[in-house]
Amino acid sequence: MDNPNEQSRMDKIVSLAKRRGFIFQSSEIYGGLNGFWDYGPLGVALKRNLKECWWQDMVAGHDELATLPGAGSPYEMTGLDCTIIMHPQVWKCSGHFDLFHDWLVDCRESKRRYRYDHLQGRFATYRAKRVFIVSDQSGEEAVADSEAKALKFFGVRPKNSDEIQWQEGGLVPLARCIADGTVALAEALGPAATEPGTLTPPREFNLMFETRIGALAGGDDDRAFLRPETAQGIFMNFKNVLDTSRVRVPFGIGQIGKSFRNEITPRNFTFRSREFEQMEIEFFCKPDESAAWYRFWRDRRWNWYLSLGLTAGKLQLREHAADELSHYSVGTADIEYAFPFLATGEFGELEGIAHRGDFDLRSHSEGKLVRKDGALVVELGADGKPRHRGSGKDLSYFDDVTRERYIPHVIEPSAGADRAVLAFLCDAYHEDEVPDEDGKARSRTVLKLHPRLAPIKVAILPLVKKDGMPEVAIALYRSLKTQLACMYDEKGSIGRRYARQDEAGTPWCLTIDGQTLADQTVTLRDRDSLTQIRLPLNECVSALRTRLQES
Ligand code: GAP
Repeated sequence: MDNPNEQSRMDKIVSLAKRRGFIFQSSEIYGGLNGFWDYGPLGVALKRNLKECWWQDMVAGHDELATLPGAGSPYEMTGLDCTIIMHPQVWKCSGHFDLFHDWLVDCRESKRRYRYDHLQGRFATYRAKRVFIVSDQSGEEAVADSEAKALKFFGVRPKNSDEIQWQEGGLVPLARCIADGTVALAEALGPAATEPGTLTPPREFNLMFETRIGALAGGDDDRAFLRPETAQGIFMNFKNVLDTSRVRVPFGIGQIGKSFRNEITPRNFTFRSREFEQMEIEFFCKPDESAAWYRFWRDRRWNWYLSLGLTAGKLQLREHAADELSHYSVGTADIEYAFPFLATGEFGELEGIAHRGDFDLRSHSEGKLVRKDGALVVELGADGKPRHRGSGKDLSYFDDVTRERYIPHVIEPSAGADRAVLAFLCDAYHEDEVPDEDGKARSRTVLKLHPRLAPIKVAILPLVKKDGMPEVAIALYRSLKTQLACMYDEKGSIGRRYARQDEAGTPWCLTIDGQTLADQTVTLRDRDSLTQIRLPLNECVSALRTRLQES
């Protein structure tokens, strides 16, 4: 983090999330559990709204009769809800059992654990003593971190810092230096160590959480895994969906659900968690149309974030370079957001849109595939037999109009619900000034959430707690409650109540005042424009519905 303003902005967002009941640390009264988060009363509503928008916009509300520009033919969408624990063979054929790992290093002194690819450093020399100072930070923070560490290690005062000589060219990845032999582990000073040589050699660490099935668990046969992605449940049911519904290729299956990854270094609030939710689509199409469908989904998903109000200037679409692609992918683009906890110019992944080819359906029928001479072939063991056997089931598709049989190609837009919630929270957070009851400027914190995402759509507020105003307000609240997420609040001055709703992201407030009793009208206050208009009491529901639909 090289921008203190952004860091303090992030700190304020985290504190608001806790103070207003959006996000809490899991098991907090026991000191919390790293990488696990709970959603509080406002957070659960925000996250549900986000998932419902995704489901409605991508799956339930999709018009399968419409020919969409750029998409070629119309397509169908349907849904699934699969189990978290599946047959262990699923993960062998998907590649996760062998390949879904990160490299980690431990520090023997500090007992800390690091992701190998997150460590970088450079040599510092002082009076013939030389050490490779390692940092686990990124950007400018890593530079400042390593400079502070060098002063401490050599026992040099800050005013004499120019007596330390630094290796030219800035910080370099530790992994690269170890691989090319320019640094030995014995020379590396770990991020939280006081002496060099305490980092262990890197080792592979599979990210899948393991569990055991059954009361007599013990042998290897009982071993099972919590799913690290929801996608595989969709491939497991590809034939079931084809056989039991009327979908024809091209079509997509959507699923929202929990996934689990034993991340080595969960960090940045909910951004990298160990338990999180995904919103994934597996879209099945004809191989020769797959490139066009890949572009279609990339653009459709990009536009979805914009339609819910994410600031375009903070979003980036990034096509992966060939050496970044997953073991199955022939093309991937990430939709990324400039989260405030990142250094200026850095972006964090919100969603990946991958062209998975026929990798999954083929491996689940034939056995785990590997890339050999550019082609995907079944992996063989030393005995020449498939190392992981597939299901042996035919997962091809027969087009009864064209009489063609083929294995469909898959385009996969895979989004994280928690990361999206975090991005929308960060984007919505604003501090501005509003006039208070006396016309003086008052600073306010406001979440400018899109009305579809806002946990509460409207607050009903009697101006004062007397003169019959609460009775009218409660009757209005009861008539709205069955149709919209709304709340009633009569505690505190009207200014404080508006401020509370602004912080919760509530787009509208309805205030019942003296005039209401005389002419049956109420004040509708708009969170963003701060305009106030009068509305007949009996038109409130339709006025709010129209605003919500047009938002
Ligand atoms: N099926 C493909 C797949 O799972 P991924 O890029 O590993 O691809 C997709 O994950 C999305 O899931 C990411 O873009 C991110 O939004 C979310 N995600 C992945 N790991 C996460 C984690 N540790 N914490 C929170 N969200 C995560």
